Amino acid sequence: MENKQMPLIIDTDPGIDDAASIFWVLASGKFDVKALTITHGNVGVEKCAVNALRLLEAAGRTDIPVYKGARAPILRPRISAEYAHGTDGMGDSGMPMPKVQAAEGRAASRIVEIARASDRPVTILAIGPITNVAIAVLLEPDLKQYVDKVIFMGGAVRVAGNFTPVASFNVAADPEAAQIVYQSGIPVVQIGLDICNQFSFRPADFSNLEKADSPVNRFICRMVQFRLRQMGVTDTESVARSDSIALNDVAATAYLMNPDWFTTEMVVGDVETAGRCAGQTVLDFANRDNRVPNVCFASGVDSQAAIRQWSRDLCGGF
Ligand code: RIB
Ligand code: CA
Repeated sequence: MENKQMPLIIDTDPGIDDAASIFWVLASGKFDVKALTITHGNVGVEKCAVNALRLLEAAGRTDIPVYKGARAPILRPRISAEYAHGTDGMGDSGMPMPKVQAAEGRAASRIVEIARASDRPVTILAIGPITNVAIAVLLEPDLKQYVDKVIFMGGAVRVAGNFTPVASFNVAADPEAAQIVYQSGIPVVQIGLDICNQFSFRPADFSNLEKADSPVNRFICRMVQFRLRQMGVTDTESVARSDSIALNDVAATAYLMNPDWFTTEMVVGDVETAGRCAGQTVLDFANRDNRVPNVCFASGVDSQAAIRQWSRDLCGGF
């Protein structure tokens, strides 16, 4: 029987919001998740791989292989984001360590193999620094034939960066990799901070999850508690008032779920790799050089509809 699920690879650095995204993908039942490919990012690649395995165990999906990938960016020293995700990358929430291990093989090679073997072009949801996908492009220059699109949580166009004045973390972490992917011929959907800043969760959005009380939902609620503590929100009253729990990767996952929630336009895009602006996503809305548009830039989103669906799927799916 034909598998109607969309073939999908998730390239990720789990990560609190990576977890909330991966759980959503699994809960939705819409995707044939071929692999989680792991990159350096929020924490080192080894910890990120352990986190991916913890997530899959909590979700009862250890059938999905986890492949470790790049330990560092292509040219630069590694950066990380323990300040946002805790020393373990999962909000130091004490979730059980995994019993299973990562699969054999390196992420970039597996991306190429999986894409080539798929009967339909695969979609890549890239929610960390994009080093693995760039290496896959370098390994297989024809990767564009096998990949439908890369949905990338990265970039800042009309808003400030969250790592440098002009760069979001996932691009600042490996600008050269991002430029390789942007110029690869694979359509890139840029879900940057322009969207993520419109995508704030409120504590009330988690109340249904608390009631549903499954290992996955407990996992998410504990990580959100970490985020709230970080924001200095500890007492019940300020929790109720708080309206800005950022789970940026969920915004990129929302595009995967339903592009109709988004306002987009096709533009020509590059990633700056030099100087103080390295990591800036430079979109030429006027297409001055008459190039073929390569980036689907998302500028608007019905975030409330997406967050409602996220909550419904997680409560129903686990
Ligand atoms: O913004 C820092 C990190 O948090 C990024 O990897 C992003 O994807 C999120 O996980
Ligand atoms: Ca991430």
